[in-house]
Amino acid sequence: MGRVAGKVAVVTGAAAGIGASIARLLASEGAAVTVADIDDATGSDTASSIGASFRHLDVAHEDEWQAVFAEVARAQGRLDILVNNAGIQDTKPLEDITLADWRRMFSVNADGTFLGTRLAISAMKATGGGSIVNISSTFAMVADGLNAHYCASKAATRHFTKAAALYCADRCYGIRVNSVHPGVIMTPMLEREIHDVTRQRGLTSTESVEREWASLTPLGIGDPSDIAEAVLYLASDASKYVTGAELVVDGGHIIR
Ligand SMILES: NC(=O)c1ccc[n+]([C@@H]2O[C@H](COP(=O)([O-])OP(=O)(O)OC[C@H]3O[C@@H](n4cnc5c(N)ncnc54)[C@H](O)[C@@H]3O)[C@@H](O)[C@H]2O)c1
Repeated sequence: MGRVAGKVAVVTGAAAGIGASIARLLASEGAAVTVADIDDATGSDTASSIGASFRHLDVAHEDEWQAVFAEVARAQGRLDILVNNAGIQDTKPLEDITLADWRRMFSVNADGTFLGTRLAISAMKATGGGSIVNISSTFAMVADGLNAHYCASKAATRHFTKAAALYCADRCYGIRVNSVHPGVIMTPMLEREIHDVTRQRGLTSTESVEREWASLTPLGIGDPSDIAEAVLYLASDASKYVTGAELVVDGGHIIR
């Protein structure tokens, strides 16, 4: 018997990276999973490789959220788990961040999490509850001078999670809302960041930047499956007494 057997889950940004790993683990533990992403080609491949469904979703667009949840309700009749994982990151000096950059960052990382959470609450309360897991970052807790807008958007997600948890608990909805805070995890996002910093420093090889990133964390660079295991715990009934919590999975990044 899987740890989320019989549950219905939606994972955003699940075409690649951490989201794909979360979707794979939830599916292997018995959930009916919808992979939701803007990248239709990779998302469809990921979904079919793990026995999940794929739906196009840009998390910044409310109408697309409504369409995904309507389809899940039609096909599955309920929603038990939402993982707000989709996120973007854009390493650049604070003085170069434009208002458009700032708004784009917030539209995906913060607006997306808000929209998904609000609509999932409506769906979940109708069937007695559920679990919402928001993927934030250790950059919600410690700052990085080259990621000011990213840090701010992830801090917004961290605190929004607690407000949402309280809202649901106060109304006895049976809905738990928690955040997970990855540190440095090897995904396409991190690979892009390492290349960007290498280029900004005028280097030809990524080796020294990669070493630097690894040295940020006592346990080195993590794997997407490390985050998926934490999400599985929060999604499953094993965490039935956990809400408004922030689960740091960072190989010791923030204890330095
Ligand atoms: N990799 C890390 O080191 C790290 C650290 C801390 C937090 N995180 C967070 O973990 C989450 C996943 O990161 P990742 O490293 O796997 O990223 P990634 O870039 O490797 O994958 C992100 C996925 O999200 C999708 N996506 C992007 N914008 C979207 C949108 N508007 N709507 C729907 N899907 C969208 C992409 O197509 C992609 O499939 C993000 O929220 C990220 O901020 C990552």
